[in-house]
Amino acid sequence: MELIKAGENGLSNEELEKISERLHGGAVVAIPTETVYGLAADAMNQEAVKKIFEIKGRPCDNPLIVHISNIKMLNNLILDFPNAAKKLINAFWPGPLTLVLKKNKKVPDVVTAGLDSVAVRMPEHKVALSIIEHANLPLAAPSANLSGFPSPTTARHCVDDLGSKVDLIIDGGSCKVGVESTIVLMTERPYKILRPGVITRHQIEEVIGRVETLQKYEGRIGDVCAPGIKYKHYSPNAEVVLIGGKLSEFVTQVSAVLDEHSCAMVFTGEKPNLNCMCFEYGKRFDSAELARNLFAVLRKVDELGFKRVFVRAPSPDYAVYDRLMRATGREIF
Ligand code: TXA
Ligand code: MG
Repeated sequence: MELIKAGENGLSNEELEKISERLHGGAVVAIPTETVYGLAADAMNQEAVKKIFEIKGRPCDNPLIVHISNIKMLNNLILDFPNAAKKLINAFWPGPLTLVLKKNKKVPDVVTAGLDSVAVRMPEHKVALSIIEHANLPLAAPSANLSGFPSPTTARHCVDDLGSKVDLIIDGGSCKVGVESTIVLMTERPYKILRPGVITRHQIEEVIGRVETLQKYEGRIGDVCAPGIKYKHYSPNAEVVLIGGKLSEFVTQVSAVLDEHSCAMVFTGEKPNLNCMCFEYGKRFDSAELARNLFAVLRKVDELGFKRVFVRAPSPDYAVYDRLMRATGREIF
């Protein structure tokens, strides 16, 4: 495996040329984005895309997001372009927003798991954009972790998970967002948020009016439209126990069952209240900071060999709450 580290000004021309050659040759390359690292390949090359599924151990009924660097690429992927999608693109691209639109038949079925729609996003990361632009290829890329585990937010996380399986990893520093993009289904009305992210329902509704959400964690969601949602996700080896309520209640509950195999994940400043290994993952009402740190802390819990982590639950309105709920391994479908 080879690692290329982007400098302050991004990648050099020679580096971009090399990455482009590899992508055109059907290689799978881990790349940074502003949300999480992605495991990328030429979206139009079926064999290359199949390799992504193999490397990740990803079920083949879980479709991938296609990453683009300009609107011309989008027009080559989709059948129609609703006005609401144009408005969202103007408001949020490049950025952590994925739109699911009707696909045209050039997009291989392996990318979309046979669906007649395709998920597309333009990342806001200069290294990612320069790679896509230089190669002039739309890149299919899921998060660059082993299927089911916490997403990678640094190049080292990618090396840890996939180092022996990919040819090339591009180090573009820590991801500034830290959780995956918000996904909006736009192939039918009413439009639906399939996965929450740092771009909130409120922000989306300000641009296109009322949308629905799929945020339910109990019972059966039904025939969900984002196939990835039915799988346990984002989950470290350690058991994740999410506890809501006040700090005092958290301390009482955790203290009663604490042992040397357990640790806690709490908000900034709360560490001194607990008598165990404790990680602070951000200020309680700072959704951006919590998102930025979430996956790195979950990975640390595994690295240190803990079997259980008690987590102070953030506001259910935050994307981190969604990821933590899914990490608990509760039946969510
Ligand atoms: O921020 C992100 O979105 C990151 C970075 C790398 O861009 N990518 C990411 O990809 O999170 P992944 O594969 O981990 O999640 C993609 C999600 C899955 O839940 C999948 O089911 C859904 O997108 N998806 C993809 N294509 C879809 C489609 N045509 N219809 C509905 N859902 C789709
Ligand atoms: Mg993923």
